[in-house]
Amino acid sequence: MSESEVKYGLAGVVADDTAVSKVMPETNSLTYRGYAVQDLATKCRFEEVAYLIWNKELPTKAQLDAFNAGEKRERGISAELLTLIGMLNAKAHPMDTLRTAISFMGQADNTANDSSPKGLYEKSLRMFAQIPEIVAADFRVRNGQAPIAADRSLGFSENFFHMCFGRVPQPEVVKCFDISMTLYAEHSFNASTFTARTIASSLSDIYSAVTGAVGSLKGPLHGGANEAVMHMLKEVGSAKNAEKWMLDALKAKRNIMGFGHRVYKKGDSRVPTMTDAFRKMVDVIGTPEARELWEMSRILDATMVREKNIYPNLDFPTGPAYYLMGFDIPIFTPIFVVSRITGWTAHVAEQLAANKLVRPLSNYVGVAQRDVLPIERRG
Ligand code: COA
Repeated sequence: MSESEVKYGLAGVVADDTAVSKVMPETNSLTYRGYAVQDLATKCRFEEVAYLIWNKELPTKAQLDAFNAGEKRERGISAELLTLIGMLNAKAHPMDTLRTAISFMGQADNTANDSSPKGLYEKSLRMFAQIPEIVAADFRVRNGQAPIAADRSLGFSENFFHMCFGRVPQPEVVKCFDISMTLYAEHSFNASTFTARTIASSLSDIYSAVTGAVGSLKGPLHGGANEAVMHMLKEVGSAKNAEKWMLDALKAKRNIMGFGHRVYKKGDSRVPTMTDAFRKMVDVIGTPEARELWEMSRILDATMVREKNIYPNLDFPTGPAYYLMGFDIPIFTPIFVVSRITGWTAHVAEQLAANKLVRPLSNYVGVAQRDVLPIERRG
């Protein structure tokens, strides 16, 4: 194979079929099961979107009620898992804790290897219901507070706030979070989803696929970017400093977090919806810090587009939005997982329904074949 045939980073390679979502970079659009994501984000609750991603159709009222009842039944992580979270290294990144916790869920589930459609669905729903609780428990334990149990009377997003803070904030704040859940839920063959599919393709179990996907999402070039965005905004410090900061950073050839995308080159279709929800939340919160973060992000966005024609991706508005909701920065990528578990598990089911072991070729660039010399003749 000649080097020119190698597709570095698999860029431009179509690796399989999917009916879960469609990314259309030419029109900057994204659909889940045929529905535009901005339509779903503004007209549906995240629970409806999760149902759609797994069941291929939006639910009727009766279907949604049954789905929500099933999700609520699955809430409540085991005492052993709660103990494990308390025992893990408190200085570790929460993505490492989450990766270990999901691996533990798989180890504790005697049906882990049941990859029948029903088995996959049950485990997907269990992870969907329990990952928020793992993330919230770790958030509180890391901050020296006792975990708060799930409240089965609350909706999915409301329950997450309840488990993190012991209260549910204003509807605009919950809505902003719920919209981010829908926007993060699915995005075709990104690195973590492809990781999940690759693991599933060896007929390993769904928990292993999700554990691997968490490891992939952690990286700052993928899910970790929402955290990096907030670190960057803290470094920028003020709206007054934003334009100069960006110009200096570009001059220094820094990689600006929250900008650019492997697929979208003219803007990320999810950004306007998230930015709008972020602005509405800033209006409701109304603090000087909230206004400053909003102004700062507007200036950074405009400067980057003006100077480089590189547009923000979804992590750019979600970083400061999560910060204003009261979350600490290390929880941002685990929050991404709270949502993306839907897309990952839908892809695992799709992979297994028409499985082909993922096994690409490589272009060998090492030394030519040679003989093994007796040890006294080496060196
Ligand atoms: N900051 C500065 N320059 C950037 C940039 C960024 N965030 N994103 C792209 N560029 C530059 C590249 O360095 C490249 O410059 P060059 O032509 O001088 O080499 C040019 O823009 C074109 O890059 P492109 O091929 O479009 O990007 P990519 O596909 O290689 O990389 C990312 C895509 C996502 C890895 C990259 O944009 C990035 O690292 N972004 C920051 C991390 C981030 O926000 N990740 C979340 C993605 S959802």
